[in-house]
Amino acid sequence: MKHPSCLFPFILVSLAIPGLGQPSPALQKRISQAIAAAANDSHPDYTAFVNPFIGTDNYGDVCPGASVPFGMAKFSTDMTGYAPAGYVVDPTQFIRGISPLHDSGTGSSLGTYGNFEIMPLLCPGGFNSCTTKLADRQRLRKSNTDDASPGYFSQTLDNDIKIEATATRRAGLERFRFPHRSKPYFVLDLANDLPVSFAGGQLNIDPQQGRVTIGGRWGSSFGPGRFSYQAFACYDLLDGGKQKLSEYGVWTGDSVGLDAKGLGQTHLNLSLNLIGGVYQSGALFSYANRPKTVNIRVGVSFRSEEQACANADSEIGSSTFEEIEAKAKALWLEKLSKVEIDIARTPPNVTEMLYSSLYRASLTPFRTFYPLMALHSPVEFAQIVDNYIDGWRKNGWMPECRANNLPGWTQGGSSADNIVSHFAVYYHNEAARLGINLNELYSALVTDGEVNPPEWNIQGRQVNVYNTGRQTREGSRTLEYAFEDFGIRQVAQLLGNAEDVAKYTQRSLSYRNVWDPSVVSDGFKGFSQKRYPNGTFAYTNPIDCSPNDKNDTRPCSLQGNNVNGFYESSSWEYSWYAPHDTAHLIQLMGGNATFIKRLDHFFDAGYYLAGNEPSFQTPIGYHYANHPAKSVDRVREVVFTNFDITPAGLPGNDDQAAMASLLSFHLLGLYPVPSTTQLLILSPFTPKYTIHNSFLNISTTVTTVNFDPRSVQKTIPAGTAAYVKNVTINGGEVVITLTANKTEADDCLGALPESISTGGFSKAR
Ligand SMILES: *[C@@H]1O[C@H](CO)[C@@H](O)[C@H](O)[C@H]1NC(C)=O
Ligand SMILES: *[C@@H]1O[C@H](CO)[C@@H](O)[C@H](O)[C@H]1NC(C)=O
Ligand SMILES: *[C@@H]1O[C@H](CO)[C@@H](O)[C@H](O)[C@H]1NC(C)=O
Ligand SMILES: *[C@@H]1O[C@H](CO)[C@@H](O)[C@H](O)[C@H]1NC(C)=O
Ligand SMILES: *[C@@H]1O[C@H](CO)[C@@H](O)[C@H](O)[C@H]1NC(C)=O
Ligand SMILES: *[C@@H]1O[C@H](CO)[C@@H](O)[C@H](O)[C@H]1NC(C)=O
Ligand SMILES: *[C@@H]1O[C@H](CO)[C@@H](O)[C@H](O)[C@H]1NC(C)=O
Ligand SMILES: *[C@@H]1O[C@H](CO)[C@@H](O)[C@H](O)[C@H]1NC(C)=O
Ligand SMILES: *[C@@H]1O[C@H](CO)[C@@H](O)[C@H](O)[C@H]1NC(C)=O
Repeated sequence: MKHPSCLFPFILVSLAIPGLGQPSPALQKRISQAIAAAANDSHPDYTAFVNPFIGTDNYGDVCPGASVPFGMAKFSTDMTGYAPAGYVVDPTQFIRGISPLHDSGTGSSLGTYGNFEIMPLLCPGGFNSCTTKLADRQRLRKSNTDDASPGYFSQTLDNDIKIEATATRRAGLERFRFPHRSKPYFVLDLANDLPVSFAGGQLNIDPQQGRVTIGGRWGSSFGPGRFSYQAFACYDLLDGGKQKLSEYGVWTGDSVGLDAKGLGQTHLNLSLNLIGGVYQSGALFSYANRPKTVNIRVGVSFRSEEQACANADSEIGSSTFEEIEAKAKALWLEKLSKVEIDIARTPPNVTEMLYSSLYRASLTPFRTFYPLMALHSPVEFAQIVDNYIDGWRKNGWMPECRANNLPGWTQGGSSADNIVSHFAVYYHNEAARLGINLNELYSALVTDGEVNPPEWNIQGRQVNVYNTGRQTREGSRTLEYAFEDFGIRQVAQLLGNAEDVAKYTQRSLSYRNVWDPSVVSDGFKGFSQKRYPNGTFAYTNPIDCSPNDKNDTRPCSLQGNNVNGFYESSSWEYSWYAPHDTAHLIQLMGGNATFIKRLDHFFDAGYYLAGNEPSFQTPIGYHYANHPAKSVDRVREVVFTNFDITPAGLPGNDDQAAMASLLSFHLLGLYPVPSTTQLLILSPFTPKYTIHNSFLNISTTVTTVNFDPRSVQKTIPAGTAAYVKNVTINGGEVVITLTANKTEADDCLGALPESISTGGFSKAR
């Protein structure tokens, strides 16, 4: 949506006024106080350390809305401008309403959801004067008033109407406080969603029951445009009989003059506007007796209107706002307490970053989250793995980027392989008790590895990249497929299938097939390159699609004309990618010294992209060349250059908490090698932490001896203990001893991280 251009000078002026902004400064004050007060508390309220606004600026695309862990409902306002998660912190953007469905941390698109939006209105001229259309109803916020905490979200409009929300898994409560003696009006949207993807639906008002039901179809989130999903909502307006409607009806509008109200009408059934464009439409109603607050109960479902109403009934019933908020907080506390730290001796920003990251990681899980989940939440991990296997049972292949019941786009390859194999290597002994049949899991993996799907863009993988189909992302797909084959190999090893171990080990080495030793860039020799079907290398400048690419029109993503060979990445970035065989990669690059020099150059010259997954493992790459102290320095620099506790505190979109998961590991001084049980040890940002696994009944405490808070900054000051001298593991007690002598600590003492080609990963845990 475009704004009137006359607003532009206003925007410039208003941004210059100090103090104008969001969220409320009271939020950070509250969090800081909570962290300080928790210093000596043995049962701290970890939810009080969470700042849901981290990542709501700088294209972080985080949804700060009210939700429960892994909840379907995330109640947030929807705003104008670039706002794929609905909310943005930018105070110059307008609010169009609050709605129950959102994604968090998805990038570079108009987003998904934002359907079933409701907006409180003051209509001094009565029903027919209400500003129902999107552009007419949108409003700015009052400065410094946005607030949120786990399970709670609130904003105050510039007309003094306060909006609050709290959530259950598939429902929520909205509370609206109106200015004294005003008559509350509400406009409820049938058709609109964030990406303007409405494909037809209906709305019904039952004035006796005080219930509005909505159902319709909208466009896929990250998938083919021709797919649409169905969604339903059930709005209960009477707060169990405590509130009374005054007027009700429907409205329709469009951008070329239509602005109609139908007082007393109770039904809408709209297909797409047949002459093009989109109809705006929905319900409009007001309340009798000028109540100060209005409570509205909302249920959602992907199945039916009846299910949406039943979800609200069963999850909320007649509970109050405070009761539901307390339940949501309790669920969050249970999740956040899986990781406990020594709050008194941890720098407060680290505490806030850690718990805010753990919070976001449980909003919507993405590939990077599973290694974290494996440490503390095997039950939920198993449920997700079961879903992947079920996708294979029902559709023939495990899903990729599946959302709102629709297949999504394949990006790197069949990521499910690394996710389910990670589960298997950790929990093969407990798999049956967790409801997972390892043989079935393995069959699903082998299908991905062996059977070419009719459409590899949405599931499985194009098994032979060179001989079939449209050529795109050949380089990165080969690298991803090789690591996925390693995942299959790991499970074959668990199952004692020696023949498959040999086969998939061999296939996991096919990252070497795209290594062109002749390509030179910035003086470094040997880069991953795509190849033509006839086997010849196709030259791609390793700089292309990197931050140093001067050509900003080059297609680097899913586009059909992306000829770069690497998906959303450069050859500079993807050439580091062989997490299971870095030792051999070092050889390909010319040995340890060159590898280290090249890694340094990668960071110093600006090829590293903190917010891009193919860069995730690079800061700890020094471990593989026996320079673990350099990894420690690099991770400190990466964290303090790219992350902080402000709304702009993420280096780009959170990618469904991929960034949050990575940051959590960085702060804990760990790096998990996916599809293995190997964790690389770095220098924790906290003197002590405990990870609880309530399924295994195991707690692991990591104590950092000689921890010095002065080391917790971008550049570790000389003479400060920060480097790992030795590590002892005694049952659930891990002791990491730090030293200030970097030379002494810059040696793995023979315990290099494992690689296939040097005999690593030779037996299952
Ligand atoms: C925590 O306990 C320590 C030692 O007992 C004390 O010095 C400190 O003031 C306490 N901090 C808070 C915030 O209560
Ligand atoms: C809505 O209209 C469509 C097309 O006119 C019709 O097929 C459908 O049955 C109607 N749905 C309802 C719930 O009335
Ligand atoms: C391989 O295919 C590419 C692209 O079609 C072509 O440019 C190249 O000459 C071929 N190489 C050989 C050896 O045939
Ligand atoms: C930038 O990339 C596009 C697409 O590959 C290409 O058409 C264009 O010529 C390039 N521009 C420059 C200046 O190289
Ligand atoms: C790199 O260093 C390690 C540890 O010193 C050594 O085992 C390995 O062989 C070296 N790699 C190469 C390619 O020289
Ligand atoms: C904590 O974070 C805030 C916001 O980014 C920053 O201004 C402050 O300097 C940080 N404090 C420390 C000790 O790093
Ligand atoms: C963990 O403890 C609970 C309760 O004591 C018990 O039911 C469960 O079997 C234990 N789990 C394991 C893996 O030992
Ligand atoms: C680890 O280093 C500390 C500090 O030098 C030392 O006291 C301790 O004995 C060492 N532990 C082991 C197992 O080497
Ligand atoms: C640091 O450790 C190295 C290697 O163990 C040693 O040679 C050196 O003397 C130490 N430096 C200091 C200042 O202790």
